Amino acid sequence: MTPAEVIDRLLPSHLQAKASSELFAPSNIALCKYWGKRDRSFNLPVNASLSVSLDYLGTHTRLTPIDAEVDEVWLNGQQLLPSAKFSQKVSAFIDLFRRQQDLYFRVETRNNIPTAAGLASSASGFAALTLALNDALGLDLEPQLLSVLARHGSGSACRSVFDGFVEWRMGQREDGLDSHGIALDAEWPDLCIGLAKVDAGEKAVDSRSGMQRTVETAHLYQSWPLQAAADLEKLHQAIARQDFELLGQTAEQNALSMHATMIASWPPLLYWQPESVAAMQTVWTLRRHGVPVYFTMDAGPNLKLLFEQQCRDEVLRHFPDLETVEPFGSR
Ligand code: ADP
Ligand code: DP6
Ligand code: CO
Repeated sequence: MTPAEVIDRLLPSHLQAKASSELFAPSNIALCKYWGKRDRSFNLPVNASLSVSLDYLGTHTRLTPIDAEVDEVWLNGQQLLPSAKFSQKVSAFIDLFRRQQDLYFRVETRNNIPTAAGLASSASGFAALTLALNDALGLDLEPQLLSVLARHGSGSACRSVFDGFVEWRMGQREDGLDSHGIALDAEWPDLCIGLAKVDAGEKAVDSRSGMQRTVETAHLYQSWPLQAAADLEKLHQAIARQDFELLGQTAEQNALSMHATMIASWPPLLYWQPESVAAMQTVWTLRRHGVPVYFTMDAGPNLKLLFEQQCRDEVLRHFPDLETVEPFGSR
């Protein structure tokens, strides 16, 4: 069984494309990380994860059907060669929808976050592409199924189909139909996320190869699934009780545990730069002075700060260039 075979059964056999569709999906930040796959062709995770979506930060993707034999891919206003890795990944994903049909698109995609810098562009990118295909082809699929489909582009994309807090249930099935995001019925109006950008450049090792290397070479990885399961429970409690300290502590320890498994890989995988460590130390100093601020980090050198509205001024004094998002603010 292949992803193409599974998806073929979910979609109508004959497709027709609308003149143009443009959709947005937010990026998301995991508080309990997805790190490691139990199946690489289906992007099935070793552990369940939990994230918060980043409101207006993410990807806008427009699809226009074209009379051609290959997709035309534009990223942030620049046309890419069909042979570029980026175009190939986009076209391979569209292949899952178009199958044998002669349906090619101009794909114009814009990220308002840095691409491939550890700020989850693969999540918003493949979620936006999934939503745009659903619209362009008039599929009218349920959110849960859209999440399953987005997961095939990038695992973290299955969480970006929803706003707010999202759990990615790992599922058990081999075809992955039970491995998708679920929006939690919870809000946290005071919650702020700050992006402390250290380096917006493309990382040397993408998340996909980074997690594979960790699973294959780090003995420390054996302890990861247990850590992740315990953290997931704590995050659910923290969200239910609006216990910010528990949320922050759990997210920070979860991120550092993931990075510990990366560092213990071979060749070693260290996404941090000296400025990343300096920013961590600033966070720890702030906490020693009684300011409840925590951080999380993904496969990249940038930090994402977690704090509540009442600490905003204090945090911004120490991180003047912070880009802040209120995931529940505009609702
Ligand atoms: P990140 O931390 O940004 O998610 P990854 O290494 O996980 O970094 O993924 C980067 C890859 O995600 C890119 O090389 C590209 O294949 C894909 N990607 C990023 N933005 C988009 C987009 N707007 N549309 C489709 N794919 C995208
Ligand atoms: C560290 O979803 O980018 O950001 O499924 O191979 O595309 P692929 O990987 P990706 O991995 C994200 C890893 C992470 C943690 C997380 O977002 O949960
Ligand atoms: Co990614």
